Order: sequence, then C-alpha cells, then structure tokens
Amino acid sequence: MTGLNPLTAGWIRLLTVAGLAASLIGWAAAPQDIPRAEPGEELSGGSTTVFDASPKAFGFPARNMQDEEHRSAFFVGHSFFNNNWVVAPGATAGRDGLGPLFNTRSCSACHADDGRSRPPEPGQPMTSMFLRLSIPGSGPHRAPLPDPVYGGQIQGQAIPGVPPEAEVFVTYTEIPGAFADGEHFSLRKPEYTITRPGYGPFAAGLLTSPRVAPVMMGTGLLETVPEETLRALAAEQKRGGHGIAGHINTVWDSALGKSAPGRFGWKSEQPTVRQQVAAAFNGDIGITSSLAPAENHTAAETACANKASGGHPEISEDIFNAVVMYTRTLAVPARRGWTNPAVLRGKGLFTRIGCATCHVPQLQTGDSDLPELSHQTIRPYTDLLLHDLGEGLADHRPVFDAGGRDWRTPPLWGIGLVSKVNRHTCFLHDGRARNSAEAILWHGGEAEAAREQFRTLPKADRAALLDFLESL
Ligand code: HEC
Ligand code: HEC
Repeated sequence: MTGLNPLTAGWIRLLTVAGLAASLIGWAAAPQDIPRAEPGEELSGGSTTVFDASPKAFGFPARNMQDEEHRSAFFVGHSFFNNNWVVAPGATAGRDGLGPLFNTRSCSACHADDGRSRPPEPGQPMTSMFLRLSIPGSGPHRAPLPDPVYGGQIQGQAIPGVPPEAEVFVTYTEIPGAFADGEHFSLRKPEYTITRPGYGPFAAGLLTSPRVAPVMMGTGLLETVPEETLRALAAEQKRGGHGIAGHINTVWDSALGKSAPGRFGWKSEQPTVRQQVAAAFNGDIGITSSLAPAENHTAAETACANKASGGHPEISEDIFNAVVMYTRTLAVPARRGWTNPAVLRGKGLFTRIGCATCHVPQLQTGDSDLPELSHQTIRPYTDLLLHDLGEGLADHRPVFDAGGRDWRTPPLWGIGLVSKVNRHTCFLHDGRARNSAEAILWHGGEAEAAREQFRTLPKADRAALLDFLESL
C-alpha cells in the first residue's frame, strides 16, 4: 500500500479515539483488536446490493440488473411468488393445481416479504414451517428414504375431499443457564407432537426434522461461488486444527443427473436454486413443474389419486423460469452502521472468538449465466459447509452426507433486518432461538469453543458482538 488516503487516515484517528475511550471505561477489547471499516464493506451483495432498511428490504431486484428481459421476468416471478395457487380447475388458468396435499397456498405465506418464517405459538397449528420425514437408510442417489405412506414432509392442509396428513404442535421446555459474569439466560428446547394422522400410522423408526423458512435473498450469488472455493475452505478449516472441519454435502442434481455440492436448505440438500424452487412448489404447495413432475403424494394416499390436475406440469416453463429468476436475483440489502465503533469492536470479536471460521465474511462469486451475479465480492458470512453443532441442535435425521448433528452454516447477511421485515427474531433451523444471543448460546459441537468464548465475554463485549450482527 502506498500511503493512506485521507478517508482511511480519518478512520484511524476516529478509531484511536474510540479505542482510548474504550480503555478508559474499562472495555475488555484492546484497541489494537478493533478492526477498521474496510472500503466497500457495507456492500453485502457486491454490486447487486440495495440500500433499503425498510420492512420491504428483502424484496428488491439486484441493483445492477438493467437487462429489461431479466427485470420483467423478476416481476412476473414476484407475482407468482406472492399470489395464492387455487384448486384445479380454477378460473385463473396458470395458477391452479394446488395440492392435493400442501402446507400453504403461496411461497410468501412462509417467506413473508421474502423473509423468514417463525414457529407457531404452542397450541396453534403449524403452517409456515414443517417437519421433514424419513425412515432409516437411503434410497436412489443416496437421498433419504421417505415414509412409505406420508412421504418426505408433513403437509397439514389438503384440497376438499382429501384428508390432510396430520397436525403438528410444538411445546417448549425452558433450560436455564448463565453467562460467566452471573447474568442469567434461558433457552427453550422444542418438542413436536404429531396428531390426527390422516392415513394411518407412521413408519416405525420415523425420523423428523423441523424447518422454518429461511430468508430468500442472495441465493443466486451463493449458487455461483465456485466449488473449489468450498473445497479450499474445508481444507483450510481442517489445517487450522481448532476442531472445526466443515464438509460439503454431496447431493443429487436432478437436472444434470449427477452429484453436485449442496448449497440450499438447512442441511444443504439442494444444489441449485432451480431445484430448490421446484422442490418448494412440489413439496410445499403441491404444484408440479418440469423438474419435479410427479404429484406430491404416495400411492398409499389413495384419497389423493385422480384429483383434477392443473396441467402437466401445473406450472408452465415460462412462469417456473420467472420464479427461478426472481429467486436468484433478489438483492441483499446493504449494512447499516458498519462504521460505528461498537460495531467495529463486535466485528473484531467475531473473528477473534472463532465465529468467522464458519461464518466466513467474504467470498467471491465465479462465472454465472447472469452477468449481474458474476465475479462479485460478497459478504454472506457463511462457508456453505456442514458442521456438527452438537447434541442440543441435533435432529438425528441424516440427509446425503449431512449427519444427524450437522447443519449448514447459515448466511448472516441481512440478519439485523429480520426484526423489521418479519417482526420477529426467531433464529436457527427450527426458530427456537428468540434472538441472536440465544442462537449463539445453542451452538455446540464444532462451535462449542466459540460459544464458550461468547458466554464468558464481559457484557459490553457481548453487546458489541450483537451490535455487529445487528449491522449485517
Ligand atoms: C410451508 C412453508 C414454505 C413454503 C410455502 C415455501 N418455502 Fe421455501 N423454504 C421453506 C423451508 C422450511 C426451507 C428450508 C428447507 C430445508 O431446510 O430443506 C425453505 C428454503 C427455501 C430456499 C433456500 C434458501 C436458503 O438459503 O437455503 C429457497 C430459495 C426457497 N425456499 C424458495 C421458495 C419458493 C420459490 C417457494 C414457492 C414456490 C417457497 N420457497 C415456498 C419453507 C417454505
Ligand atoms: C462450527 C461452525 C460455526 C461457528 C464456529 C459458529 N457458527 Fe453460528 N451457526 C453455525 C451453524 C451450522 C448454524 C445453524 C444451526 C442451526 O440452525 O441449528 C449457525 C447459526 C447461527 C446463527 C443463527 C442464524 C439463523 O439464520 O438462524 C447466528 C446468529 C450465529 N450462528 C452466529 C454465530 C456467532 C456470533 C458465532 C461466534 C460466537 C458463531 N455463530 C459461531 C455454524 C457456526
């Protein structure tokens, strides 16, 4: 580097003052631990980044998407993402074919405002999250084996004349704990009850996995991160030798007919946005597509047979492509307050206590058929790898190479805006954490050391770390 530009020099002055103030009032982080704001750090999604922190922050097209065709596909996709599908034959052709079994009538019923869902209150039926199902063993291409009667997921709703599969309820047990400084916290552990099965008993040894809907944006960028990058991250973690060793979930790409790294879903079980969207239409709404053409019920669910279809497939290729385009190009919002001293202090702690080993701050996208997404410097705070997060979070339901304690490191970009967009802060795969501190306190397994460091930090440092998360 040849000399400091005035902006950087200004920052250093500011940070020195902040550091001095910190040491005067007895903060634990030494001033030299406080990193600077880096140029462009606020651009979480590179040139796709939008500047909006409103309740609609997750719903904008990539800022650099100028191509008229791409933009119009985005807006068609937006409409089919948000509007309800209806029972066939429907007056609105092109939007019929709902069910026969389904969870909700639209994508946005779970991904409200392109954001994330939350678990139901105790006693309320589960609608915007679901339980995945399987039985021990694996099937074709090493995929999980579905329950022979109920398939791969419980659908709690059905079209007229068809029994829904079941109702699912959640209850919580509070588990008390304390920070090293004596402050108390409590974590709620969920338990699920499946009632009113519509098609007889579930299989013996049934495995279940609760999942809330994650935030939608940025998936097109993550899809474009080269496989070599993921391999390099896994190798680097192994070399680091701190008990953190993520691995790729090698899953089945049904369009290519071969194995590919998984990237989407809480266990990285889908390799592409296209396959994720096809699986969502099929599994969650009961809409068939070219990529998932079979109606989503088993032969044993005879009440579902011979129900009117909305076409073969039910979603036309053009509209399916539009929803895929929409999903791939939803923009990541810019960070807020990324230059605040407390946020910068939190950023330093995030790296120092080991969070950044898995929640990798910066990645580079590769080549994409969408120039908007190609060669972007992105800041997703994920390695897209699977990690053993310990017994407390385990679902004991393996999926391809994801074991029963493994979860994909979720991207943290946008996490500070969830409260604005979705009016809740229920985090983790099942929404059990009521805020980001609880999410951290649930970390175990490979992340146990980082969790313990957080638990033993002085209160002001914990607050700075949470401020940093809030700025993402
Ligand atoms: C019933 C609720 C529900 C509905 C409806 C739903 N989703 Fe999802 N969505 C989920 C859940 C739960 C996951 C996580 C799945 C997993 O872990 O395997 C998910 C994951 C995703 C992801 C991956 C995000 C990531 O970061 O891994 C995308 C993209 C997505 N859904 C798009 C859609 C689209 C498009 C539709 C409409 C066709 C849709 N979803 C409908 C619940 C839903
Ligand atoms: C070993 C890898 C690893 C380390 C280290 C790690 N995490 Fe995580 N983190 C994960 C995984 C995997 C999940 C998802 C767990 C789940 O949903 O059950 C997660 C979830 C989260 C979530 C919830 C995200 C969401 O969308 O629900 C937050 C917040 C978070 N981590 C912050 C942190 C912080 C802060 C640290 C450092 C104290 C940290 N993590 C350390 C892997 C890691």
